[in-house]
Amino acid sequence: MQSCLSLKLSSKTSLAFSLFFDTFPNSDSMAPVPISPINVGHIDDVQELRKSGPATIPERFVRDMTERPTLDTALPSPNTVPVIDFSKLVKGNKDEYKSEMLQLTRACEEWGFFQVINHGIDLSLLKSTEQVAKDFFMLPLDEKQKHQMLPGTVQGYGQAFVFSEDQKLDWCNMYALGLEPHFIRVPKLWPIKPLKFSETVEVYSGEVRKLCQHLLQYIAMTLNLRTDFFEEMFGVAVQAIRMNYYPPCARPDLVLGLSPHSDGSALTVLQQGKGSPGGLQILKDNKWVPVQPVPNAFVINIGDTLEVLTNGKYKSVEHRAVTDKEKDRLSIVTFYAPSYETELGPIPELVDENNPCKYRTYNHGEYSKHYVTNKLQGKKTLEFAKVESKIPT
Ligand code: OGA
Ligand code: NI
Repeated sequence: MQSCLSLKLSSKTSLAFSLFFDTFPNSDSMAPVPISPINVGHIDDVQELRKSGPATIPERFVRDMTERPTLDTALPSPNTVPVIDFSKLVKGNKDEYKSEMLQLTRACEEWGFFQVINHGIDLSLLKSTEQVAKDFFMLPLDEKQKHQMLPGTVQGYGQAFVFSEDQKLDWCNMYALGLEPHFIRVPKLWPIKPLKFSETVEVYSGEVRKLCQHLLQYIAMTLNLRTDFFEEMFGVAVQAIRMNYYPPCARPDLVLGLSPHSDGSALTVLQQGKGSPGGLQILKDNKWVPVQPVPNAFVINIGDTLEVLTNGKYKSVEHRAVTDKEKDRLSIVTFYAPSYETELGPIPELVDENNPCKYRTYNHGEYSKHYVTNKLQGKKTLEFAKVESKIPT
């Protein structure tokens, strides 16, 4: 299957096989041989840009009029992303449990996003993870570039999802690492500095993994599925972490921190740096709604995988990040997804006359490959899975 996949994609991009959503068993031992190098042009490092010319916005970052962010998106206060008190799911009384489960169902159906408070993960671990991430981004450029993301790949330091010279760039520096299963790790991309980086990320990721597993159990229950439904189906889940650092931008009205997209994962867990300004926006009823940071909470969102499995009942909602004129912003994002071998398609119990099958059945590894070989473009990647899709598998 591996050779068949690489053959299919070889004409499209030079894939160095180090992508967390496109790595297959034993691929780490394969030499990353670019077949036809892609030309992404010069990619400015955003932190360096900011240092050298704080007021300069190179053309490649300036969005077309239709893409520019509207920054006055404040909506009436009831219209905010639902907040779930995780402790009430785990150890609340019957009424608390019931109302939290209702809230969770509503969040998954209507928002595709929710914030989780009292999640049980030690706040000092959140703090130390934020610290090592920040310390990494503050290293000199040449140090960070020892772990550079190669064009066409999504692990390491740089800008992911850039595939051509004329593509607009995000006002963001990223550092991304595949974590689980271990064969997706690329050791040379892990930093030696800051000293505590690897150890901290390891502990953090273990805790976030457990949180994802728990959340999926409750999500399964909201769908009247067996508690361990997703765990059984997913096998050894794929997990990756991406740290996004958004320097301040003199013209936040012209640029985007992160292009609109939906996540290819099953669940995404996002931690925002303490004191970071807001910046994450989600597309709700055709309007960009800001997600207001809640102290010590995680922002969780449903990814494409859960949208497909639930036949669209739960939504993988398009989102983006905008920048701030004065403040920098850090987000630490975990993607949790099924193993690459998993066959995905709408769960039969969720398909009936009133909910006809919207997605076909496909292999998650193939979807991941499709996801990481296309630029972020709203929900376009999910066309891959639509029943009427014309995109070849
Ligand atoms: C992502 C993402 C948003 C943010 O990394 O997929 O949506 O606020 N990040 O950084
Ligand atoms: Ni995202």
